[in-house]
Amino acid sequence: MGKKFFIQTYGCQMNLYDEGIIKEILNQEGYAPAEKEEEASLLLVLTCSVRKHAETRALGFISSLRRLKYKDPKKKIGVLGCLATALGEKLFSYGVDFILGPDEYKELPRVLKDSGCPIRHQGFPGETYQDILPRTEGIKAFLSIIRGCNNFCSYCIVPYVRGQERSKDFLAVIKEAEILVGAGVKEITLLGQNVLGYKSNGFTFLDILKELNKIDGLKRIRFLTSHPRDLSFPLIEEMAKLISAGKLCPEFHLPLQSGSNKILSLMRRGYTREEYQKKINYLRSLIPDVAITTDLMVGFPAEREEDFQETMALVEDIRFDFAYMFKYSERPNTKASEIEPKVAEEVKKQRLTHLIEVQNQITKERNEEMVGKVFEVLVEDRIGEEFRGKTRSGKMIIIKKPALILGEVYLVKIVRLNGWTPVGQIIDNQMEDL
Ligand code: SAH
Ligand code: SF4
Ligand code: F3S
Repeated sequence: MGKKFFIQTYGCQMNLYDEGIIKEILNQEGYAPAEKEEEASLLLVLTCSVRKHAETRALGFISSLRRLKYKDPKKKIGVLGCLATALGEKLFSYGVDFILGPDEYKELPRVLKDSGCPIRHQGFPGETYQDILPRTEGIKAFLSIIRGCNNFCSYCIVPYVRGQERSKDFLAVIKEAEILVGAGVKEITLLGQNVLGYKSNGFTFLDILKELNKIDGLKRIRFLTSHPRDLSFPLIEEMAKLISAGKLCPEFHLPLQSGSNKILSLMRRGYTREEYQKKINYLRSLIPDVAITTDLMVGFPAEREEDFQETMALVEDIRFDFAYMFKYSERPNTKASEIEPKVAEEVKKQRLTHLIEVQNQITKERNEEMVGKVFEVLVEDRIGEEFRGKTRSGKMIIIKKPALILGEVYLVKIVRLNGWTPVGQIIDNQMEDL
């Protein structure tokens, strides 16, 4: 029987991308994927530590693997990713055999050969993995263009666990995109904690967009995440041109976090509510049908009721297409952990519940506005008799007609909502050359 691995992945899209890198490294080492934990000799947990809850989930899973190891002591357990850096050697008390941080995955072959291997953290701060093409299948792929983060928002652990910001070489980015498209990928999502910070040999994020726009066979380009501070007015203008003429999709994920200037400043976000709002207005004036999504956080230290009300007012005013919403979770050694007074758990909960209620209503209303209109939908998936696809602005649509081709773009009229999800009917044959 050949060597088999099982990997459980938590966290953000960066981790999903890294899962592909890890799988490719293991493939080169002769490991095949196992369907179940029980069948694998190598058990990997790719972890997140952005909030306490993410850590708790990963640690719970690691404990469950330990029980498997009791039964079969030959199994190896490896903890990879952000929590590996955050907790370090403490993880050995969970029965873990090795730990590797986000810059250390190339150490896997060595670690798998040696037993009791020494573990280093942040050993390769410049690592971009540009010489490894992650394993992907299907019509959509992530492409990481920048790793790490230098922003040090006061609440955030990412700069500590993922290290300094560094960009992948420009030509390596383009080559990776071409290889993906050659393998049948129709939609690429460029990834980074802040893709707008990309710089390599004088090339910028905009240069990547322009170059990818030229790749035949690539239909759509998306990107995640954009720091609102770095979205300049000239950049909005250039991106608007690419969106109207080409493959770039009109979808911006711009994490607002808070609507209070006092809190934004304590968070070290580098913009005010007024600046944020001006950028949204400009985006909407230049890009018809642009979707704007965001991240919001309640209960940051020193957040008073009136600060929270400012967030609510801005949320109701902007009307985001979608938002990820969180309670502030204190992370060890971050600047925010020193800010007083803390907000009581009960208050955080109430604020989050209220925010979710209001934003979810807005999300639903925004989807209702789509009914009766026609969109270009790229079909991604088939579940039973139903097809799923996305509009250019990133809205998921259900289409009930059979016999659609995955990876093709269709004109779809939205007829109703199913819960929140728009349901559409094909109104035209497959579109050519979109
Ligand atoms: N680089 C991205 C997002 C990184 S983490 C950005 O700059 O926006 C994703 C989201 O998790 C953040 O936008 C924030 O809303 C949330 N988050 C990060 N740290 C957090 C913490 N300590 N507590 C609660 N939410 C947090
Ligand atoms: Fe964290 Fe801020 Fe960096 Fe995003 S930009 S990863 S929130 S420090
Ligand atoms: Fe992502 Fe979580 Fe790490 S959000 S960068 S996997 S801490």
